[in-house]
Amino acid sequence: MQQCYPPGDTIVFVEGKNVILQDIEGRTYLDCFSGVAVNNVGQCHPKVVKAIQEQAAKMLHVAFLYHNVPMITLAEKLVQVSPKGLTKCFFAGGGAEAVEGAVKLAKKYAVVNGKAGLQIISLEHSFHGRTALALTLTGQSKYKVNQGAFANVPGVIYAPAPYCYRCVLEYPDCGLWCAKFIEEVIELKTTKQVAAFIMETVLGEGGIIVPPKEYLTAVRKICDEYGILLILDEIQSGCGRVGKMFACEHYEVTPDIMVVGKGVGGGMPLSAVVAKEKVAAAWTAGDHTHTFSGHPVVCAAGIAALEVLAEEKLPENAEKVGSHILQGLHSLKEKHALIGDVRGLGLMIGVELVKDRKKKTPATEEASKIKSAMVKRGILIGVGGLKKNVLRIQPPLTLTVEHADMLIDALDKSFTELS
Ligand SMILES: Cc1ncc(COP(=O)(O)O)c(C=O)c1O
Repeated sequence: MQQCYPPGDTIVFVEGKNVILQDIEGRTYLDCFSGVAVNNVGQCHPKVVKAIQEQAAKMLHVAFLYHNVPMITLAEKLVQVSPKGLTKCFFAGGGAEAVEGAVKLAKKYAVVNGKAGLQIISLEHSFHGRTALALTLTGQSKYKVNQGAFANVPGVIYAPAPYCYRCVLEYPDCGLWCAKFIEEVIELKTTKQVAAFIMETVLGEGGIIVPPKEYLTAVRKICDEYGILLILDEIQSGCGRVGKMFACEHYEVTPDIMVVGKGVGGGMPLSAVVAKEKVAAAWTAGDHTHTFSGHPVVCAAGIAALEVLAEEKLPENAEKVGSHILQGLHSLKEKHALIGDVRGLGLMIGVELVKDRKKKTPATEEASKIKSAMVKRGILIGVGGLKKNVLRIQPPLTLTVEHADMLIDALDKSFTELS
């Protein structure tokens, strides 16, 4: 269905290798968006391809009624690299499925512990997927218009995002108002029967919003005080993208449930809910699953992808190349007035464009033009943010400093051309 794809540059891709994609006309592109932050190990990594081929020749599918070796191995490996204390895991196919699974688990946990678990707190500017509950949790109304009450699951309440660039207060003098306000939200807008607080550790689709250092510690404290589970959605920020395996490591905070997706499958459709044992214990066998949960071929790809991340030290490379890109972007900011803010962690980078720096009027059209100008220069980037005015740079974690320089040079030229 054509309607399901965004308008804009229509390119038909036929081949990909690491950071380079080729279209049907033979043009090549430097991929700086990774199929929306998925191809962390690069396109068609030989190890991932081999694992898929070998497992496909051995056994395709058995469903959740039985165990299979790749599923067990991946569960063990994923738990090993997850924050300490998250020891149980469940697989799904896509991010939204995993988000819904995580919330379902949190609600059951509340109920088996004698609570009602009626409400979920989510963040404004967030994105959690496009199924009914995941879209309800998404804190951006633009995704919900003209769909009746589809994304209107009762009991979802929003708290302000830690969006320093657009906050009326100045960090750190604000005293972390956005975190403190969560208590107001609990006191004023809930019946104090909250099952979970869910947030993306770094907000992706909402425009690469990086919470201040102490924000997550404050959130964790509030959750503990009110007996609320903390669910961190690491679908975009996980699997090495931010220079550590998971973004919550930067904040030294462990959630009760973590949701992983995108990069975890090495390019195959895989997601996971990773939880503390006492939380996971709320589910009894058969409580929750999908037909394709723990699919052997997909899990084989996931195992290979996790091994590649470690063997090639890709989180470390993300940190190194990400810092280099941020440095380049800060220099561009001095030169191009359209750039209002540059922010990011590792290779999860946002460049917020504004028509004027004082009023911070979102430069939506300009962002779209820069993205198209970059396509003409053979570089793929993304656009996000509530007003679609944030350039998103989320390349495979295999990107080199030389590639990064090509990106900065092309951006410089595109900004100059536009002005
Ligand atoms: C943070 C986050 N959560 C959830 C999702 C939904 O994932 P999927 O599109 O695989 O359902 C996305 C997708 O972009 C995401 O970025």
